Amino acid sequence: MLRMDSDKRYKEDLKSKIAKLKEEKKAVIIVHNYQRDEVQDIADITGDSLALSQAAVKTDAKVIVFCGVHFMAESAAILNPDKLVLLPVKEAGCPLADMITLEKLRAVKGKYPDAPVVCYVNTTAAIKAESDICCTSSNAVNIVRSLEDKKRVIFVPDKNLGKYVQSKVPDKEIILWEGFCPTHIKVQEEHIRKVKDLHPNALVIAHPECNSEVLDKSDVVTSTGGMIKYIKNSDRKKFIIATESGLFYKLKKDNIDKEFFLPTEQLICPNMKLNTLGWVYHSLEFLEYKVSVPQDIAKRAKLTLDRMLEVSGEPSGSAISGV
Ligand code: 13P
Repeated sequence: MLRMDSDKRYKEDLKSKIAKLKEEKKAVIIVHNYQRDEVQDIADITGDSLALSQAAVKTDAKVIVFCGVHFMAESAAILNPDKLVLLPVKEAGCPLADMITLEKLRAVKGKYPDAPVVCYVNTTAAIKAESDICCTSSNAVNIVRSLEDKKRVIFVPDKNLGKYVQSKVPDKEIILWEGFCPTHIKVQEEHIRKVKDLHPNALVIAHPECNSEVLDKSDVVTSTGGMIKYIKNSDRKKFIIATESGLFYKLKKDNIDKEFFLPTEQLICPNMKLNTLGWVYHSLEFLEYKVSVPQDIAKRAKLTLDRMLEVSGEPSGSAISGV
C-alpha cells in the first residue's frame, strides 16, 4: 500500500515537472496508442501511425517529443526538417522495420522494374527513400488501390499486412516481403477461439499485422485508430482485441460500459514500453535523443510520405485525440 502511494506520488510529481518543462521548451508530446498508460496521460496528441504523421505536419511547436519507436520519430523528423525531433529512448526500435535491407529491396526492384514499391510506415528512412509511396495500417488498401494503372505492386516489409491488402485488392498482384511484427504474430487462431468460447457475443477486432488465420476469424480488421473509432460508435458491449495491449488504456477510458479481452497476454511490444515518464523528463531537460536523417535521404523519403498524406487527406476525427 505504502509502495503504491509513493509510486503514484512519484509519477504525479514527474507529470507536473514534464508539463512545466514542456512549456519552457515550447514542445509538443506526441504519443502512440501502444505507449504506457502514464505516458499516454502526458500526451498532447495520441493516435495511430497515420494520425501521428498528420499531426506532426500540423504542429507549430519547436520541439517534438515522440513517444513511440524510432521509425515514427524519424518520419516526424523527415516531415519537419526545421524542428527538433526527440525520441526519449534511443534504443526504441522496430524489429519489423529491421527486416528489410536496401540491398535486398534493390534486388527485388530489379526483378520487377515496372512495379512501384509501397512501403509500410514501419521502415527506415533509407527504405522510404527507395520506395514510391508509403502506407500505414489504416490506409494500406486505399494506397495500393490509388496506383490505378499498376497491375503489380511490391509491398514491404510486412507480409501479413501485404496479404490482407491482396485480399482486398484482388485485381493487382502483390509481391510480398517476408517481414512480420514479432508481437502481433504471437496471436494464434486458437487464442481467439478460446476467448470466443468464454464470450460468444464478443466482437473480434484485429490489427492487420496479425496472421491471416487470425484475420479470417475476425469481424473487423483495422488500425489502432480505426479500433478506437469503431468501438466508440458500436452498440456491442464485448470486444476481443488482437493488438498490442497498450491500446486497452484508451479503450477502457473512452468506453466505461464496454468490456475488452486480450487473446493472449503476450501482446506486449518491448520497444514501445521503453519510454517512461523518467525518460520523457530526461528528453525534455537535455533535449535528447535527437532524431535526424541525412538530407539526401530525407528529401526522397519525404516525397514517399507526402504522396501517402496526399492520398489519405485529413485525419478522421476520433483516430486522433488532443489536437
Ligand atoms: P497503427 O498504425 O495501427 O497505430 O500501428 C502501428 C504499429 O506499429 C503496429 O505495430
